[in-house]
Amino acid sequence: MKKTVKDVNWAGKTAVMRCDFNVPLKDGKITDDTRIRAALPTINYLIDDGAAIVIMSHLGRPKGKAVPEMSLAPVAKRLSEYLGKEVKLVASDVVVDDTVKAAAKALKGGEVMLIENVRYRAEEEKNDPEFARELSELGDIFVQEAFGTSHRAHASTTGIADYIPAVSGFLIEKELKFLGEAVNDPERPFAAIMGGAKVKDKISVITSLLNKVDILIIGGGMAYTFFKAQGYSIGKSLLDEEGIGLASDILKLAEEKGVKFLLPVDVVASYDFANDSPYDVYPVDSIPDDRMGMDIGPATIKLFSDTLKTAKTVVWNGPVGVFEMENFAVGTKAVAECLAELDATTVIGGGDSAAAVTQFGLADKMTHISTGGGASLEFLEGKELPGIAIIEDK
Ligand code: 3PG
Repeated sequence: MKKTVKDVNWAGKTAVMRCDFNVPLKDGKITDDTRIRAALPTINYLIDDGAAIVIMSHLGRPKGKAVPEMSLAPVAKRLSEYLGKEVKLVASDVVVDDTVKAAAKALKGGEVMLIENVRYRAEEEKNDPEFARELSELGDIFVQEAFGTSHRAHASTTGIADYIPAVSGFLIEKELKFLGEAVNDPERPFAAIMGGAKVKDKISVITSLLNKVDILIIGGGMAYTFFKAQGYSIGKSLLDEEGIGLASDILKLAEEKGVKFLLPVDVVASYDFANDSPYDVYPVDSIPDDRMGMDIGPATIKLFSDTLKTAKTVVWNGPVGVFEMENFAVGTKAVAECLAELDATTVIGGGDSAAAVTQFGLADKMTHISTGGGASLEFLEGKELPGIAIIEDK
């Protein structure tokens, strides 16, 4: 068990809290603030317990330079609205300077400040010890709450713990509970749905899950690489050339392990990668040469839904079609609706599948939606995440 904020008496102490406020922005406005809302319980707990709080995060990939479009200013504003008190962004192009240090020192119990995007400094991603020390000097105890960045060994996610004690926030606790229970102690039958474009990106997680699941369902762009591996012609559909051999290996492994392995049986295919391109449904062994697969077809929706209805634990990572386009969102929506209705533990990996479930208004029907994309994948693979490893044990 990892120590949490509850294992500390915060009166008179300053928390240096790492959040993952890497939120999507459009024209300077936040389009999805799930990651901000997910950190509120911990921030409120710290405020109530008398801590002063210095929050840090990255946003985007500014590559070691101050990039104004990647400033955390919109996050400070949204956070102030949610907390009902001013969260001041003490901005510096070098993240920590004398002004930032003085502001952190002057912070009183119950006050919250934000520092600028830690990736404005190249030392962040290098996990530079000196930068980690600078960050640690902003407070007394490190609160790790950035699940989405916990697969990165950076100065603000791991290095800082070399200088001050590290505890977790409630979001990390929740992510570890739901993802951990799903992969290590699932109620069976245990099904995983894997979507997304490239077999290569998901090979490790699929291989690892084949040791754990009873049912593995493949959808999305990478299904076409599996069809190719089975000798079908896939028209203009997405092909991950390098993945063909990997797909064959996965098919063999699934058979060896006795895992029920489901691929789509029909697809919705259009002429072009566009919502207004005319489309039709084809069995997977007869995709015309001038068509590209965009979504799973109705027979597949029925097959996947009927199978999922038998499951007691489901982990879903990656959409099964191009859900960003209305005409090709049907399959992903059907999977989301099926999960929403299940009497089972449903865990949604972050990234696109989380965005899809939110887009369909079904987020509150799932047991847990992870705030981590890459991090949840690495966790499901069974890797030790560096940003979790540094949290002290109880
Ligand atoms: C994410 O959005 O997955 C995390 O914030 C990590 O971002 P990164 O891939 O740029 O490290």
